[in-house]
Amino acid sequence: MSNALLAVVPPSRPVPSLADDVRAGLLSVPRELPPKYFYDDRGSALFEAICETPEYYPTRAEKALIAAHATEVIEASQPQFIIELGSGVASKIGPLFAACAALDLPTVYCPFDVCEAVLIKTAALLSGQFSSLEVRPLQGDFTAGLEHLPRLPGRTLYMFLGGTIGNFTDPAAIALLSEIRAMMGPEDRLLLGADRVKDAAKLNAAYNDAAGYTAAFNLNVLSVLNQAVDADFELDKFSHRAFYNQREAQIEMHLESLVEQSVTLGGLGQSLQLASGETIRTEISRKFSSQSIASLLSAAGFQIEQHHSGPEGEFSLLLASPADA
Ligand code: AVJ
Repeated sequence: MSNALLAVVPPSRPVPSLADDVRAGLLSVPRELPPKYFYDDRGSALFEAICETPEYYPTRAEKALIAAHATEVIEASQPQFIIELGSGVASKIGPLFAACAALDLPTVYCPFDVCEAVLIKTAALLSGQFSSLEVRPLQGDFTAGLEHLPRLPGRTLYMFLGGTIGNFTDPAAIALLSEIRAMMGPEDRLLLGADRVKDAAKLNAAYNDAAGYTAAFNLNVLSVLNQAVDADFELDKFSHRAFYNQREAQIEMHLESLVEQSVTLGGLGQSLQLASGETIRTEISRKFSSQSIASLLSAAGFQIEQHHSGPEGEFSLLLASPADA
């Protein structure tokens, strides 16, 4: 897809294709899919709708932390460049740009996202809002490595917000944070958002909103598969299940087969037999304690400069620097 606005960041290592992930994840038990496939244009729009629901607190909690601590974060990091991994629509980070402007820092903001529609929307939303800000969208998959990100000639603030780190198991999270760490010079900083362990009822509600956006978001991944591998999933034969797994400290999202059924994956020349009640796990969303997030950062070679979590410790916003730098 050519779009003059977007620079494409090629993968730095082969990543499993959707077909590979479907073969590896769906055709064996326990069945699972990587959450990155939620985010086609419709899925990204549904995610935005989730963020507006009264139950889904993380977006508002993080937004409030950013608004409250933007000046502190920007004064400590003095970024000439801001790269955001998995940017979404950048609707919560305005205060950071305002803080850059207040310090007379001309800043280049590079949202890095797989979803082209999201990047175009982000660029449109921000253009003209902050006079000292230049937006340079980067389109690519950050799970495919960061080596081909453009070399940026100046202090860079890397941002990984939204609690997306929670989608990764410990080893995968450490690997990703270590890759960011490897890109960083001693003056660069990482701003990380991570959701926190809390009351199970509140967590369960956040992933089971009454309006049904999370259910639609979860089921949408089946439409993505129908398109991508010519499958014939019937969405009304599946049901959204999301629950907090206390032992693992993670929300798990599943799609439960409501009947015994056979699904054809035409593009793969395969079919999938599902028993009634059998589930496909579509996402983990880990919830951290202040200790568990600190040890994750430390394992990836970071030291914490600032840790903001608000009065109830609902969510963590951390500014970290390369350790031993
Ligand atoms: C974007 C990965 C942070 O885990 O809370 C929202 C995605 N899934 N509702 C999360 C999501 C269901 C979200 N992250």
